[in-house]
Amino acid sequence: IDQPNVITCKAMVAWEAGKDLVMEEVEVSPPQPLEIRVKVICTSLCRTDITAWESQAIFPRIFGHEASGIVESVGEGVTEFVKGDHVLTVFTGECKTCKHCESKKSNMCQVLGLERRGVMHSDQGTRFSVKGKPVYHYCAVSSFSEYTVVHSGCAVKVSPQAPLDKICLLSCGVAAGLGAAWNVADISKGSIVVIFGLGTVGLAVAQGAKLRGASQIIGVDINPEKYEKAKCFGVTDFLNPNEYNEPIQQVIKRISGGGTDYSFECIGNTGMVTTALQSCCDGWGLTVTLGVPKTNPEIASHYSAFLSGKTLKGSLFGGWKPKSDLPSLVNKYINRDIQVDEFITHNLPFEDINKAFTLMREGKCLRCVIHM
Ligand code: APR
Ligand code: ZN
Repeated sequence: IDQPNVITCKAMVAWEAGKDLVMEEVEVSPPQPLEIRVKVICTSLCRTDITAWESQAIFPRIFGHEASGIVESVGEGVTEFVKGDHVLTVFTGECKTCKHCESKKSNMCQVLGLERRGVMHSDQGTRFSVKGKPVYHYCAVSSFSEYTVVHSGCAVKVSPQAPLDKICLLSCGVAAGLGAAWNVADISKGSIVVIFGLGTVGLAVAQGAKLRGASQIIGVDINPEKYEKAKCFGVTDFLNPNEYNEPIQQVIKRISGGGTDYSFECIGNTGMVTTALQSCCDGWGLTVTLGVPKTNPEIASHYSAFLSGKTLKGSLFGGWKPKSDLPSLVNKYINRDIQVDEFITHNLPFEDINKAFTLMREGKCLRCVIHM
């Protein structure tokens, strides 16, 4: 059997917070036991990459976590993948044996959950280097590289029929939104829903709500350019808080007859979690959080929200267990039961990745797919 060698390839390395990524020749180690090395085909830029790049301290680093690729080689003990398999990478894995993986109630794998220190789960090491200097990972995925190494529990084999330049969106944002609507909130027919933030995540919630037969889907965003696109995902009412001189939750309560059945925070602003909670109705109103805040991580609420029966519920990756659930979501896309292409507003070659950062920071795109 051929032993995989070190690969030298191009990667977009972040050397400092908030500074343009730089294309470098990086060395990518062979996959270690239970890891696989993946040739990245496409990676889309997600808001969380930007948040981490702007606010975190671990550098140099290769960001990127929403991606599709093809297995190039497998490490010792990997039986699930062979060279040539099509995969989606995932920022939260599934070991299938921990307490959470065994529970129907959770997708928070305790072994391969969200990795925050920029290293691999197995040995706290990195698989990248530039001129002998280690380069850190991001969310144990690091897809802004032509090749990357991931734990085999952080990749999902998908149908080779599915176009990799589209389904990369299902490895994070679109799946997170659909899952929040279906698994976490479990929206029922005829419901009234409000969504704060009409980026890809919020609009995927809208799509999920529409497919469940919600009767009213209120979208809240400060960027009026989001409205046209929002309509095609099912948003029925658009509210721009800057156009009102009363708190937006008051407007929402008025147009929903006393508060919505569900509210979703898809901005990453904890102040808006409070607003979302105030916007849902007494008794059964449910607020689901999807956003990842950059600052002010604390959430404030008057306890009366809970005295009146409201629920605040967190979510990660829409409650999906990646290995168990993503293949069927990909099949839903193949069968045209869900829309994914419509979220892709831009396509760019790998070397132009900094343009994608600019587009997203300026609010000019939903998803920008980077072709390696
Ligand atoms: N009020 C209303 N809308 C806002 C506000 C605000 N104060 N601030 C930002 N927005 C809108 C933006 O105009 C944008 O349309 O929120 C939307 C966020 O969308 P994107 O930036 O495209 O982000 P997205 O990829 O959809 O992710 C949303 O989920 O996964 C997390 O980290 C991610 O926190 C982020 C959130
Ligand atoms: Zn697990």
